[in-house]
Amino acid sequence: MADEQSGQIVNVMKESRLFPPPAEFAAKARIGSAEAYEQLWNEAAKDIEGFWGKMADELHWFKPFEKVLQWDEPFAQWFAGGQTNVSYNCLDAHLGTPRANKAALVWEGEPGDSRVLTYQMLHREVCKFANVLKKLGIQKGDVVALYMPMVPELAIAMLACARIGAVHSVVFGGFSAEAIADRNNDASAKLQITADGGWRRGKQLPLKETVDEALAKSPTVEKCVVLNRIGCEVSMQEGRDFWWHELMEEASADCPAEPMDSEAPLFILYTSGSTGKPKGIKHTTAGYNLYAKKTTEWVFDVRDEDVYWCTADIGWITGHSYIVYGPLTAGVTSLMYEGAPNWPDEGRFWEIIEKYRVNIFYTAPTAIRAFIKWGDQWVEKCDLSSLRLLGTVGEGINPEAWMWYHEKIGGGRCPIVDTWWQTETGGIMMTPLPGATATKPGSCCKPLPGIIPEIVGEDRKPVPTGSGGWLTITQPWPAMLRGIWGDDERYQAQYWADVPGKYLCGDNARCDEDGYYWIMGRIDDVLNVSGHRLSTIEIESALVSHPAVAEAAAVGRPHDLKGEAVAVFVTVASDFEPGEELRKELKLHVRKEIGALAVPDDIRFTNALPKTRSGKIMRRLLRDIAAGRQTVGDTTTLEDYSVLAKLRQDED
Ligand code: WT7
Repeated sequence: MADEQSGQIVNVMKESRLFPPPAEFAAKARIGSAEAYEQLWNEAAKDIEGFWGKMADELHWFKPFEKVLQWDEPFAQWFAGGQTNVSYNCLDAHLGTPRANKAALVWEGEPGDSRVLTYQMLHREVCKFANVLKKLGIQKGDVVALYMPMVPELAIAMLACARIGAVHSVVFGGFSAEAIADRNNDASAKLQITADGGWRRGKQLPLKETVDEALAKSPTVEKCVVLNRIGCEVSMQEGRDFWWHELMEEASADCPAEPMDSEAPLFILYTSGSTGKPKGIKHTTAGYNLYAKKTTEWVFDVRDEDVYWCTADIGWITGHSYIVYGPLTAGVTSLMYEGAPNWPDEGRFWEIIEKYRVNIFYTAPTAIRAFIKWGDQWVEKCDLSSLRLLGTVGEGINPEAWMWYHEKIGGGRCPIVDTWWQTETGGIMMTPLPGATATKPGSCCKPLPGIIPEIVGEDRKPVPTGSGGWLTITQPWPAMLRGIWGDDERYQAQYWADVPGKYLCGDNARCDEDGYYWIMGRIDDVLNVSGHRLSTIEIESALVSHPAVAEAAAVGRPHDLKGEAVAVFVTVASDFEPGEELRKELKLHVRKEIGALAVPDDIRFTNALPKTRSGKIMRRLLRDIAAGRQTVGDTTTLEDYSVLAKLRQDED
């Protein structure tokens, strides 16, 4: 076993199941065999610039680029000298082709209303709204803040910004006024776009009211556009606030896409650091657009006849890259759903899949765990036979949840792509390819072409095969972040300082003897028991493999002898009783699955775990609770404060 000094993490997970790509899927896939993947990966690794330079032909160029990559660590310029436009690549490029009258966005509202926008119709709306932006004084480089429900107008506004070279900053529609104002101020946003409100589990969310409060503290924002979505009462401030539909009535549908430099900023997306103020992750034009397109095609193997559904909110990077920019550039039909998965009941997602005959379904492990908890009866009611590919993103998926997804949702026939990436990476980095990679439940499998990972120990040297360590990326890639908005120093310090010459992503991982990668969780979340470093996901996966456990979170708490003791928080599946009996059983189960080292000292039962709004378990908060400490640091991204209060109350 590795010791503490080398920085390696003990690997305790044993997973021997292997699922080869179904022959029928592979036969039609873009990348249809392991050999084809290897060949592409090797080609890219040998000549990163040549590889991406060739791919870039797939974008429309107003002016050809002069140099594929200019790398002055940590600052990259991709396709310098060239000019393109993301909105052009998403829309205009399909006009005059058979895709012009194909559905671009299929939208389902929470109350059951629905809309379809073809590429041609979406193009028209985007052009009109781009003219609205211009009329409101928005120019190239200005920052536009979006705080909207999951409605087509959110995508329209993003594409309109891209069309004229404005930089969008989407803030997830569940954040507070304080969070909006912080982000507006950090980005010096000039215009705010919002809606009167949105629907969530049948209730009205008063978005404009929240924006009013935020704008009182956002001095740079001059004007505000308000979409009428739910028809609730709002106050409109004369001279500042304008109705979307009134502005659109007068807008011309003629608005050619502005030629944009390859490195012109496309958007800012804020992501919370573990402490301190949120970071505005900066993404730019050409490299991001190309990478979003190629990864959509490689990973989801989208076909022209597909209905593709990514369930993320557009307020997260997943929605930016894999609801809007990737799928539209690839000419796919992208489904967008406004509401909650359990409204009006727990069968909603499956009804949507049946209704639109969805072929590709991309969701998060936190959702899958909820589906499992709600019970198979919801799934069994609907016809899911249209599905041919499943995906996950956001966290590691416990192998037992993977198996459930494979069997119950995929009917045993759909490949699963477990995609590892980050807001910072802009697009998927490691994943199986559905027609080429035999999958192992719980592994994000292999790096995409052009992505060269390396796992290093605390001595900064590569660790031996099978050992855990820090995951780094050794070569720039087109969709990489270009910085933290207004803070180059923090960018350098956060991602490029600890391991010289490599991008440090902040996750631990290991690579097995077959070259498969296993993400082991955030570096900060590692447990250190008697000098052995354990990863959270492995202990959690062992617990989740017990039928009584719906969800589990493992953290370390201070211990006099061991350094840290293992504390776990467990939500129990509906037909099991929490209590002393189960506690004993779970300890035995972990001992059997992993070994004595990982047996939890504390097991706490809870109804819910604290999560970020994107569904990630906040282990940092649980660490404080396990140690009996007051919570310090940023809790603004916590989804539900009452969970935290409840956990404290439950302390034995
Ligand atoms: C962090 C990035 C990428 C879009 C959504 C999240 C974790 C993400 C996986 C996966 C294990 C994963 C990592 C990563 N993560 N996908 N497939 N397996 N962990 O974006 O909010 O920037 O979070 O999410 O810890 O660093 P994000």
